[in-house]
Amino acid sequence: MVAMIVTTSRLHLRAFSATDFAWLHPITANPAVTRYTDWGPNTPADTQAFLDEASRTGSGPEEFTWAVTLPDGTGIGSAGLQVTSPRNRRASFGYMLDPARWGQGYASEVAQTLVATAQSLGMHRVEATCHPDNAASARVLEKAGLTLESQLRDHLLVRGAWRDSLLFAAVLAD
Ligand SMILES: CC(C)(COP(=O)(O)OP(=O)(O)OC[C@H]1O[C@@H](n2cnc3c(N)ncnc32)[C@H](O)[C@@H]1OP(=O)(O)O)[C@@H](O)C(=O)NCCC(=O)NCCS
Repeated sequence: MVAMIVTTSRLHLRAFSATDFAWLHPITANPAVTRYTDWGPNTPADTQAFLDEASRTGSGPEEFTWAVTLPDGTGIGSAGLQVTSPRNRRASFGYMLDPARWGQGYASEVAQTLVATAQSLGMHRVEATCHPDNAASARVLEKAGLTLESQLRDHLLVRGAWRDSLLFAAVLAD
């Protein structure tokens, strides 16, 4: 059983609750945040649907959705880890942060924690994708130990246009 709260040196990852809407929605509705994502900018209903889904399925054992907060409880983003193939012990993860907190190493800390959590869940391979132009996210993934494996052509249909994705992965020690 994985603890519901994961603590890094500077951050807490915990389950979302309904009260998180107030700080989460301004982030998910921000076009600067969703520029490279396959969702958003969110309407209030979209963010509510995300929170509803997180409370339904985001507590494991195969899908985890966490609020990322500072130790004082200030919400600054979200992180997700999903076991995509239990049989092959494969998982994927993602993250997003409040732009006011960018450039302080927080996403790298989150990504490294997600890889460690995947390992503690017994995963053998962990994957993440990002938009080819999302240089900050690609760097975050490299710093978390993932390697660029390929460019997936027309991987996503986003707001009416096809987008490639970069596939990053790490093979974890058993
Ligand atoms: C991508 C994102 C998570 C990065 O968060 P962050 O907390 O600023 O990331 P970090 O500070 O941990 O590290 C960013 C790294 O990228 C580098 N970087 C930032 N912008 C860059 C750019 N335009 N080109 C190249 N490198 C860049 C930083 O220098 C840093 O690397 P370094 O530590 O070697 O100097 C954040 O910008 C975000 O939430 N974006 C919106 C949502 C999103 O795109 N999520 C990822 C979907 S795949």
